[in-house]
Amino acid sequence: MKKSSDFEFDDVQGLLRFGYGKLTDTCFMLLKIADANAAKQWLSIAPVSSAIANHPSPDTALQIAFSVQGLRALGVSESIIDDFSDEFIYGMTRNENCSRRLGDIGRNAPKYWKWGSNTSEVPHVLLLLYAREGGLNAWRATVEGAYFLQAFQLLKHLPTSDMGRIEPFGFEDGISQPEIDWADRHSTDSHANDRYTNLLAAGEMALGYPNEYGQYTARPLIDPQHDKLAANLPNAKDNPALKDFGRNGTYLVLRQLGQDVPGFWRFLNKVSDSIPEKREQLAASMVGRERNGTPLVAEHIPGISRKNHGNHFTYDLDPKGNHCPVSAHVRRANPRTGDLPPGATGFSVIAFIGRLVRILGFGQKPEEDLVASSRFHRLLRRGRGYGPVLAPEDAIKPDAPAAERGLQFICLVANIGRQFEFVQNAWIVNSKFDGLQEEPDPLLGNRESLMNGDSTDHFNRPTPSGPVQRTCHLPQFTTVLGGGYFFMPGLRALKYISALPPNGNGGSS
Ligand code: HEM
Repeated sequence: MKKSSDFEFDDVQGLLRFGYGKLTDTCFMLLKIADANAAKQWLSIAPVSSAIANHPSPDTALQIAFSVQGLRALGVSESIIDDFSDEFIYGMTRNENCSRRLGDIGRNAPKYWKWGSNTSEVPHVLLLLYAREGGLNAWRATVEGAYFLQAFQLLKHLPTSDMGRIEPFGFEDGISQPEIDWADRHSTDSHANDRYTNLLAAGEMALGYPNEYGQYTARPLIDPQHDKLAANLPNAKDNPALKDFGRNGTYLVLRQLGQDVPGFWRFLNKVSDSIPEKREQLAASMVGRERNGTPLVAEHIPGISRKNHGNHFTYDLDPKGNHCPVSAHVRRANPRTGDLPPGATGFSVIAFIGRLVRILGFGQKPEEDLVASSRFHRLLRRGRGYGPVLAPEDAIKPDAPAAERGLQFICLVANIGRQFEFVQNAWIVNSKFDGLQEEPDPLLGNRESLMNGDSTDHFNRPTPSGPVQRTCHLPQFTTVLGGGYFFMPGLRALKYISALPPNGNGGSS
């Protein structure tokens, strides 16, 4: 039987396996390649961290990812680039329709971005440096070393700060993550996955492995007959005659999201009549967890204590959102649905009959199956917050110190369209998510009216007894300030890139 230790962790960049939570000091750099040859020389010796588990855990880490412009600048051939996904090739700001679907309109529009849009600088390389407290300057000096200054121009140093596990609005973050099935224990047969599970096929995050459909996501494969450099790349598992440039790599989605922390808490305070308990409850219902991370459905699910932030829950027992509103951020971002709607899952005879009835399309109420099965839309989040901490009690004061605060949102996925873009578009930005009306994500909505004039600035909280509590005229609390799609290669693919000849013959003809 396969063990997780059999996975090629030595070829995977560490971020796919670790959040580097103990490495509290970070430096995220967006670079432009100034001299491609010097850049390749630097890449050939860069101390990039693999996903091998070390004991004790390391004091530093370095991760590298490239935009499509970066791969081109280094001489990767168009025949390789063509095999990446369209979302990666044409980017996050590829056209107006894409921007609208991602919610990047109004104040979020790419024309206002600080980086990543057609009107600002597009980065070639993303460097992520991690160190223990106090160790960042020394680590940066080591990483930069020879060739760096000649190779790169620093476009932007993205701010990050050590906020513990708390994001700028004050909520515990980074609790719910998919568990990756490195050992291939899990079946991708839909009948075995009718209920929500947190275990996810490795191919949902890493390229070159079967995904939740049991298939290999498209990625560049190279014919070694035509490209001798490719000899050291792994053979494609689904096509062993070809070399797999994608295997052990992943796509990295980066969005700089500015957060108006005083604006968030002042609005909540106002609509809660300045009553702290009401303010906290409203904030928690917008997120779907209390500030300490306790999920709002927890106390209603047998076996989950309020103290244990538990991640082992679904919303099956709260279909109308009486405890956790359907619109809450975490419920949208991961509705925790299985392949079949509630009532059709389980192993009893009744469940079996229920499943059969639903598979045949009978007995289904329209509101029960409006959300697609969530296992095809999971994200591995690796973001970091930035800006000075501001507690809610201070944020509501008129003299609350102004500062730039926000999240460098990062997620890793094998399929940008089916995972990040789907979640952002169909679940987060969608004001009609799961049968709702006029309600996009309360934290992330841009509040722009729809083309038909419908407003999108509402938030409703159903209650078990009594009328729905409505909050109207929500301001925009978060603003997109930049973004881009990157490819974070496996270490052998990184060696391939760094060995490309000066003028780049890169890849199969
Ligand atoms: C400033 C922006 C954001 C803030 C303040 C924020 C905050 C949070 C918080 C407090 C949690 C709950 C803690 C946890 O489970 O880790 C959470 C969960 C989550 N967020 Fe966000 N988030 C932001 C942006 C986004 C974006 C842009 C996405 C995706 C496109 C996203 C996807 C998720 C997902 C998938 C979860 C886990 C849900 C679950 O599995 O239960 N978030 N977020």
